[in-house]
Amino acid sequence: MKFTAIAAISSIALSSATSAIAGPEAEVLHWWTSGGEAKSVAVLQKEFADNGGTWTDMPVAGGGGDAAMAALRARVLSGNAPTAVQLKGPAIQEWYEEGVLADISSVAEAQGWSAVLPASIAGHMKCEGSWCAAPVNVHRVDWIWANASVLEANGIDMPSTWDEFNAAAEKLQAAGIIPLAHGGQAWQDATVFEAVALGILGANGFHKAFVELDEETLTSDAMVAVFDQMRKMRGYVDPNFSGRDWNLATAMVMNGEAAFQIMGDWAKGEFMAAGKVTGEDFLCLSTPGEGFLYNVDSFAMFAVDGEDKTQGQNLLAELIVGQNFQKVFNLNKGSIPARTDVALDEFDTCAHISAADMSASSLSGSLLPSYAHGMALRGAQSGAITDVVTAHFNSDMSSAEAVAQLAKAVANSY
Ligand code: BGC
Repeated sequence: MKFTAIAAISSIALSSATSAIAGPEAEVLHWWTSGGEAKSVAVLQKEFADNGGTWTDMPVAGGGGDAAMAALRARVLSGNAPTAVQLKGPAIQEWYEEGVLADISSVAEAQGWSAVLPASIAGHMKCEGSWCAAPVNVHRVDWIWANASVLEANGIDMPSTWDEFNAAAEKLQAAGIIPLAHGGQAWQDATVFEAVALGILGANGFHKAFVELDEETLTSDAMVAVFDQMRKMRGYVDPNFSGRDWNLATAMVMNGEAAFQIMGDWAKGEFMAAGKVTGEDFLCLSTPGEGFLYNVDSFAMFAVDGEDKTQGQNLLAELIVGQNFQKVFNLNKGSIPARTDVALDEFDTCAHISAADMSASSLSGSLLPSYAHGMALRGAQSGAITDVVTAHFNSDMSSAEAVAQLAKAVANSY
């Protein structure tokens, strides 16, 4: 009896002490669960904790974020949205239209985001003029990664045309090496497809096809050629590709089982987390063709009740766009900072290439949003395209049939 009373008193004391010192809180939904990704998100967790925040982690594994987005929908539908969510591109606007996002303009204005973010990035973070998301980085999608010693041992240079890529792949295959490390998941098929499409359609054709959804471009001979190249790619992957996670494909390049991977620069985060050195152990080159496919990770805050949660959202938004976080996070993640005023001296050559190509392509009009990573289109349209890409990759569908299906799927997606 006595014990119970003391326990009850101390638990009251504890809870009032807790509420007195309660500070910023955030439940954060993200899909950063691979080695490099986990190391990167830990940077944000640490900064949040160092500033008095309490972080509740909600990781939902699954590259590209499809599983995370399904989990988000379930949470919002049950009236229990997480406080902060890894969200990007038009999906930010889609959630805004549902009326469930918090306005973070006060932080953005106090921190002067407009002055330090490129207009192209800021545009994705605004909803009808107010700030509704905070950008973390710029990932480039159109990259080829390679195992340096495998290429050297086989007398192969990084390919700068798709014909060179095909010739290298055939040589590697003859030598018993898997040319292309790939994971057969829809978003990975789409990632390879959009890199091939950029090379074959050109920047203007890519924009017409995957931003404007122009029927003529979707059904063009050039699009047939894109699917022809995808058929070749299918021949360059190993028989066990189905369902493989992207980071396991990266590991195949690291250990020399495979020569190349076509993947966004989050793959570099994996190489680096494994202690591999750019230019020595692995090589990077943009995929053949002109242009730059960007993929900007960002966090949107969901409207939730409670002062602690609002404080948590504001603190997170402030830290995310802060100079220190933008540097340290992106050194780990493989991307480059979204802010234009972060010094890149500690970054590697791939990051320098990315930054230089991003500003050059911005000037030449070939800076393009990644369709495969949800930057170009709304979910219904990008999903319709990816369904056809995957169906083609996993069957013997002809390129002509794929193009016909593509136009039909897009037309039916509205
Ligand atoms: C995200 C990256 C992530 C990758 C693999 C992309 O869509 O933008 O941050 O590392 O998916 O999960």
